Amino acid sequence: MQHAKFKQLGAVMIISAAFAFSAQAQDKKPNVVVIGTGGTIAGAGASSVNTAAYQSAVVPVDKIIAAVPEISKIANVRGEQIFQIGSESFNDERLLKLGKRVSELLKQSDVDGIVITHGTDTIEETAYFLNLVLKSEKPVVVVGSMRPGTALGADGALNLYDAVLVAGSKEAAGKGTLVVMNDEIHSGRDVTKSNNSFKVETFRSPYGPLGYVVENKLMFYRLPARPHTTQTEFDIDQINSLPRVDIAYNYGNVSRAAYDAFVNAGAKAIIHDGTGNGSVAEQIVPVLQEVRSKGVQVIRATRTGSGVVIRNGEQPDDKYDWVVTDDQNAQKARILAELALTKTNDTKELQKIMWKY
Ligand code: DGL
Repeated sequence: MQHAKFKQLGAVMIISAAFAFSAQAQDKKPNVVVIGTGGTIAGAGASSVNTAAYQSAVVPVDKIIAAVPEISKIANVRGEQIFQIGSESFNDERLLKLGKRVSELLKQSDVDGIVITHGTDTIEETAYFLNLVLKSEKPVVVVGSMRPGTALGADGALNLYDAVLVAGSKEAAGKGTLVVMNDEIHSGRDVTKSNNSFKVETFRSPYGPLGYVVENKLMFYRLPARPHTTQTEFDIDQINSLPRVDIAYNYGNVSRAAYDAFVNAGAKAIIHDGTGNGSVAEQIVPVLQEVRSKGVQVIRATRTGSGVVIRNGEQPDDKYDWVVTDDQNAQKARILAELALTKTNDTKELQKIMWKY
């Protein structure tokens, strides 16, 4: 009788130890919040061979998470649906709303990291924006996919798994907002979408990724060189609106029409998305001088997709009181210019900010 009791007691002790361990293991896993905004990672196609023709932004974030059960082994995850949109519709109002919600969550002691599922079209703007305005060292990772989850060779599941792994990793802390796609970890500052519609390797950084994530391992090979998150002067909690900044794309035969429309619409700055080194066609020089004379800032960028616009190179920027981008493409320059204009409208100060971030 005594022996049976001891055996029973032993079994109870083993089971409770197992529960304690798994609870403890549960505690050991990081808490990651996945915020859904839409995009292809939330897309669905009519058949498994529809890899580029599909409906974007139709699958709820909780379903996206549930489709990758392996995630539960590496983190305690919960989902939040803030939008269900194609990212081409990510306007400034939505950027601010997302930034404020991320900032709120980062303040919570039971949140270790955040993943944002996002359409790939404008991941680069959202990631640069968050990289500039969030005041936390905790990892924030933006992730998307080039194929819907219904497709053969869908990339969203692994991208999401890797994004959660990075967002829950201490090694990813203090590196600014990151973009994790296709086994690569990119800085939100540098990354841009280089292929329009179906290549899974579309996300490129001019100086390469910060590192890789593969087989549950993060491998960093370089660090962000420019100030970000807690190191910047921009705080999302202090920003409730963004000044209007537009982009005028340039090409042979360009006319003043877009510039006039933007000034009339109340733009505080116009990104002149110029050919080559931010060149200005002879018929546009007087137009930009007029724009500047109306108190609207002129910021020369290059449409080439990479490279640094040289001040006083193509144009006498000092004489015309214009600003040049550093290596930011036009869409990233727009994000930085909007934030800079919340701080100053002085050309020299704007130029310093463009070169700093
Ligand atoms: N509509 C595009 C977007 O939401 C789909 C592209 C994608 O997410 O890969 O950015």
